[in-house]
Amino acid sequence: MDIKVNGGKLISAREDALFIPVFSETKKLDGELAILDSQLDGAISKLKKLQKFDGSIGKTLVVPTLGKLHTDYVVLVGAGSKKKADLDTARRVAANIVRFAKNLNADKIQIDVKDFTSGIKGKEEDIAQAVVEGAILGQYKFDKYKTKKDDFKVKQITLRITRKKKKDIEEKVKVGKVLAEAQNFTRELVNTPPNVINPEKLAEIAEELAEQYGFEVKIYDEEECEKMGMGAFLAVAKGSANPPRFIHLIYKGKNSKTKIGLVGKGLTFDSGGLNIKPGDYMRWMKSDKSGACAVLGIFKALGELQPEGVEVHGVIAATENMPDGKAYRPDDILTAKNGTTIEVGNTDAEGRLTLADALCYVSEQNPDLIIDMATLTGACVVALGEYTAGVMGNDQKAIDEVLKVSEKTGEWMWQLPFNDLLREHIKAPNADLSNVGKSRYGGAITAGLFLEKFVPEKTPWVHIDIAGPAHTTTGWYYHPKGGTGFPVRTITSLILKKSGE
Ligand code: BES
Ligand code: ZN
Ligand code: ZN
Repeated sequence: MDIKVNGGKLISAREDALFIPVFSETKKLDGELAILDSQLDGAISKLKKLQKFDGSIGKTLVVPTLGKLHTDYVVLVGAGSKKKADLDTARRVAANIVRFAKNLNADKIQIDVKDFTSGIKGKEEDIAQAVVEGAILGQYKFDKYKTKKDDFKVKQITLRITRKKKKDIEEKVKVGKVLAEAQNFTRELVNTPPNVINPEKLAEIAEELAEQYGFEVKIYDEEECEKMGMGAFLAVAKGSANPPRFIHLIYKGKNSKTKIGLVGKGLTFDSGGLNIKPGDYMRWMKSDKSGACAVLGIFKALGELQPEGVEVHGVIAATENMPDGKAYRPDDILTAKNGTTIEVGNTDAEGRLTLADALCYVSEQNPDLIIDMATLTGACVVALGEYTAGVMGNDQKAIDEVLKVSEKTGEWMWQLPFNDLLREHIKAPNADLSNVGKSRYGGAITAGLFLEKFVPEKTPWVHIDIAGPAHTTTGWYYHPKGGTGFPVRTITSLILKKSGE
């Protein structure tokens, strides 16, 4: 999708359709909209009244110009109430616009960003960025395996902005485009089926990214992982016919001052293992690699934007979790890379075992901050619902930083409390730790507390449980059904923020 910026008149070049966001508080057409209305002999105000267009979100009012203007249609799009408006409103409305454009066969459109500024608090450049993100995210479709594709796509969007802001806006527009495309890249990986993306394939994708953007990359096979003492990760991999891979990507920005370690849960398929999942729960377990795919998406964005001042390590312990004669069992006792022993209570709590070794590994790089993202527990979805990620960690400042950025990106996150009583619940009868809590209560937190044992106390660490929002079976806002690409924009934005510090 080509994005242009127009700091001039509303209709300056030929376009198929001009989209103007209208808040529900707008009763009378004024300013430029009133001028357009008079150029169209009052058609906008007449139709607005006839069709009772009230600016509620999801509503549109199409006014054909019949050759009177340079554009074929003027379309008012509902932006909802100003009271509820924030940056995510701009994303949602932009997604509605690109989807609606198909009805008009309009692949070259203009969106008036200026009009958003009357209802959305914040800088115009941030609103423009959000519009770009919403448009690119809203247009995404997973149709790689459809033999008949619907090939309508909006090809060009012109953003109408205030002229004096042009340079700032152009910069943010670029960031928005990179972030949304990186998020779509993550979605595509999440959606790709488990017979196509297995651990070896995931490693290949990391190698391709490294080649494309000049990252360092190390891929370790089973034998090398064994030598590194990754007994927890390798136990999970034992039941699978497809061998595991341990992936380490390194981005080194110029004048690097801050080192960040990212870890993504990379289960290319989670059947539950011997504690096999019932059929309904096994559906969608291709998305158990969402954390890993997010790490790869974040690296794509880093490759495009090349931020200075930061060094980023991306680590993925990639494997399947399958039942087999060779599979690991409940009651097995494993030894993780840092020597901690773990008694297996349930082979379906495999994510924390793979992450344990990945966190030990990334800690050895001496990062200033570690962030892991994982589709870790069903309990987190029960606690917070499917749209919000659970955030935990050992450092309140680092947690607050992540939460603050997520407010701007619209990726909903909520902190869950670590407490000492729950710490007792992950003790095992015969080893240092159990991979399951004593009961199902607080399951997202006991999983987080388990991970905490594999990061040094002195290193700020944030754990993001994305089991809910990583994928959607219904679609919501600018997310179509499937992988959402959560939390690519939040973590990349946080890295960009650190790059400027
Ligand atoms: N991959 C699942 C968690 C999950 C559930 C992700 C639903 C996305 C949607 C994880 O490996 C798992 O199975 N966890 C178990 C842990 C339990 C056995 C302690 C769970 O949540 O039930
Ligand atoms: Zn599982
Ligand atoms: Zn899992």
